[in-house]
Amino acid sequence: MPQTCDALLENANLATMLRVGQPYGAVHDGAVAIAGGSIIYAGPRADLPDLVPAVVHNCQGGWLTPGLIDCHTHLVFAGNRAGEFEQRLNGASYEDIARAGGGIISTVKATRAADESELYDAARARLLRLLEEGVTTVEIKSGYGLDTQTELRMLRVARQLAQELPVTVKTTFLGAHALPPEFPDSDRYIDYLCSDMLPAVAEAGLADAVDVFCEGIGFSTAQCEKVFTAAGQYGLPVKGHVEQLSNLGGAVLACRYNALSVDHIEYLDPADVAALAQSATVAVLLPGAFYFLGEKQLPPIAALREQAVPMAVATDLNPGSSPIASLLFAANQACVLFGLTPEESLRGISCNAASALGLNNKGVLQAGADADIALWHIDQPADLVYGVNFHRPQAVWQEGKCDYRS
Ligand code: NIG
Ligand code: FE
Repeated sequence: MPQTCDALLENANLATMLRVGQPYGAVHDGAVAIAGGSIIYAGPRADLPDLVPAVVHNCQGGWLTPGLIDCHTHLVFAGNRAGEFEQRLNGASYEDIARAGGGIISTVKATRAADESELYDAARARLLRLLEEGVTTVEIKSGYGLDTQTELRMLRVARQLAQELPVTVKTTFLGAHALPPEFPDSDRYIDYLCSDMLPAVAEAGLADAVDVFCEGIGFSTAQCEKVFTAAGQYGLPVKGHVEQLSNLGGAVLACRYNALSVDHIEYLDPADVAALAQSATVAVLLPGAFYFLGEKQLPPIAALREQAVPMAVATDLNPGSSPIASLLFAANQACVLFGLTPEESLRGISCNAASALGLNNKGVLQAGADADIALWHIDQPADLVYGVNFHRPQAVWQEGKCDYRS
């Protein structure tokens, strides 16, 4: 008896992103079958099993990729920091502005003052920009509340976005983002975070992971370690903003706590890449922040590549260091600024981004994976990262539900 399925996507080339065969795990003249929100077949058309599809979609020779995954964003926030952009271009540095009480803290003030629906509307508009480009999964951090009530509000907004839009959202609690003005002492803030904020967030079930900003203008490694230990007590995996502006050793620390990812890492010492290679931790590259802050220090790409550390690429979408709502632009920046190959960059916004979020059923086209798929009218996968603002998907399937585009 032939098996029924919800949809058959035929007359397509597949960039499966599996690490077999051709670059990009490519399959020419392929087909994908979807049932119950999952892929039940992805491979050569010639090997397609006998299926009775409810819908057949002719992809007209286009390319199917996994739905794109933006594994590091701060897209829930209020206000904007164009004034700081002007200050920086008049000579102030990002760190000068932060130390003078601007930077992250100025967004904290605006976010605390915004109610839930204002935050939701602003975040929704930014998220839609990502979804237009074929993103089907996004990570969203808190960290502009820095008090229990506002952190919970940000995380609720992030979860609500997933209720109302065709996207999977993974939420991350980033209470250790900056020192709020009412706490002159950062040790006392970390104690409050561990004894009050984190328990409230964990008990509300609003976070999938816990993040820190390990930096001179953020928190020390000893303070980050306290946060990681507390996260472990709630069974929450950790990740870290580390080695963005200086090298404090945050990446090695995070690997000791089996972090899902270490993010930024421009100042990571190549000698410390071994710690990443020996753990399952993903290196998340954020070229948008490097670009927007005009940084010069490049992440240790050659060492990461040599030691086969999985590299992901994300937008870091936020108002201060990366006001960039385009994952394909971030993928292009990763090639142009950091020297990733187009294949590495596309893996960075698909399979490796899934790993950075602990998702083992997304980011690839294979039987058993979630049916998160984008259809592109392109000649080859590299087209997606070669041009800037050249491409939009013709159709996107998110957990099997199709949204056709023009
Ligand atoms: O990922 N590094 C810390 N956090 C953000 C910046 C946030 C901000 O400036 O508002 C980042 O770059
Ligand atoms: Fe960030």
